[in-house]
Amino acid sequence: MSRTAGRPAVILPRMPSFSDFDTRGYRTVDVATGYGRWVSTYEDTVEDVMDLALLAELTVPTWSGARRTADLGCGTGRTGAWLRQRGVTGTLDGVDLTPQMLERARARGAHDRLQEGDVRATGLESGAYDLVISSLIDEHLPDLRPYYREARRLAAPGAHCVVVAFHPHFIMASGMPTHFTDASGEDIAIETHVHLLSDHVAAGLGAGWRLVEMREGIVDERWLARKPKWATFRNHPVSAALVWAREDG
Ligand SMILES: C[S@@+](CC[C@H](N)C(=O)[O-])C[C@H]1O[C@@H](n2cnc3c(N)ncnc32)[C@H](O)[C@@H]1O
Repeated sequence: MSRTAGRPAVILPRMPSFSDFDTRGYRTVDVATGYGRWVSTYEDTVEDVMDLALLAELTVPTWSGARRTADLGCGTGRTGAWLRQRGVTGTLDGVDLTPQMLERARARGAHDRLQEGDVRATGLESGAYDLVISSLIDEHLPDLRPYYREARRLAAPGAHCVVVAFHPHFIMASGMPTHFTDASGEDIAIETHVHLLSDHVAAGLGAGWRLVEMREGIVDERWLARKPKWATFRNHPVSAALVWAREDG
């Protein structure tokens, strides 16, 4: 590690491996294969309390003020639909690498443009978006830095970047990857990576973002009403929302 005046010039992420925590041992598939097969039941199984409830608690950004939004890892359009409900009337562009998820998003109609692509190299216009948002994709990225750099490339002056993450504590404590149950009843894991919150902070700061708000969602009564088996995780953090502002200074 290079050092400047006794301090590390570059803070490298620690990136613990999910395999150190895995208690399930499910067969693991890559992202496009996994979501391509999960798509028909995805909306029935993803819990709004994981991400949409956290987004609703944020005090920044002013959603309705977003003139141009990039929804990276847009999936079936859940996040986009939520943004529309929150008063986003501007242009909303979505990017995702799973064609079947994009097909659902197209049918939903919340986005103006949808394209198949990688959140780390979207091909979208540089410096054009005043909101970049990603919900529940961070655990699928081996390294967060390319994501935050791409979000920064897309950001217009004064832009915000909002990231909702699968909380590393929950992944470690539960030993549970992102997974779904396929038509045959088999539980299948989708490649999952553990990112410490400090890795988000280092990657975001390193890309030219300033952290302006952060919330953590815990396994509370709303969760337990849906998942009584999670009583053992009562009050454990399960998701986190980070709000970044473009650092222009
Ligand atoms: C859990 S879903 C979240 C979808 C949507 N944001 C939501 O909240 O419902 C994760 C999505 O991220 C997409 N994804 C994961 N890694 C990606 C990458 N590197 N580039 C583009 N999309 C990715 C998957 O295809 C999937 O649609």
